[in-house]
Amino acid sequence: MSEKISPVSIAVLVSGGGTNLQALIDAQKSGIIKHGKINIVISNNPEAYALKRAENAGIDTCVISGKEYKSKAEFEKRLVETLENKGVELIVLAGFMRILSGDFTSIYKDRIINVHPSLIPSFCGEGFYGLRVHEAALSYGVKVTGATVHFVNEIPDGGRIILQRAVNVRDNDTPETLQQRVMREAEWQILPEACELVSKKISMMGEGYEYI
Ligand code: GAR
Repeated sequence: MSEKISPVSIAVLVSGGGTNLQALIDAQKSGIIKHGKINIVISNNPEAYALKRAENAGIDTCVISGKEYKSKAEFEKRLVETLENKGVELIVLAGFMRILSGDFTSIYKDRIINVHPSLIPSFCGEGFYGLRVHEAALSYGVKVTGATVHFVNEIPDGGRIILQRAVNVRDNDTPETLQQRVMREAEWQILPEACELVSKKISMMGEGYEYI
């Protein structure tokens, strides 16, 4: 008789509206994500609407605000404790607006993924987040942009790419219209897909998992 493999325990880290979190919740419901299960949503912002989305879906939430800790190291220590308490095996950054230190990312090698709203290596790295990414793409005049899901290491937006999807820029785009289209056509598709891909690898390879 075949043994049933339990789903990989996932934490989603958020800071804002949480539309990418919603895409993950919906993908879990519809069975696109089947090798992982979102067990906790952690926000560094107590006002994030993403927390409400998690509550509506019956997922545990936790606020760890950087402002309450003297240093980044203390903030990250609390983060690690929370993740360990929940037995988290995969961390998904879905609009999480803090850069994690090399100390943190090395604990979770190949176990942190992030969605970024451009085709890396364009318009990425420190200072490129949210609407700013789309403002930069429009002012450069690119005709194609998109989104990337990548592993997170000590270099901001520098880890290995897992999935990318391109989106055409239109002549009359504003940063806001471009952001919406990149989300709808790229981010909300590839983040759940990448989440399932990585969860499947972890569940098949167990403790000794190293992504290849
Ligand atoms: C998304 O566009 C995400 O790609 C971006 O912030 C937005 C969050 O929206 N993340 C970054 O720029 C990280 N560098 P959401 O809260 O509605 O998912």
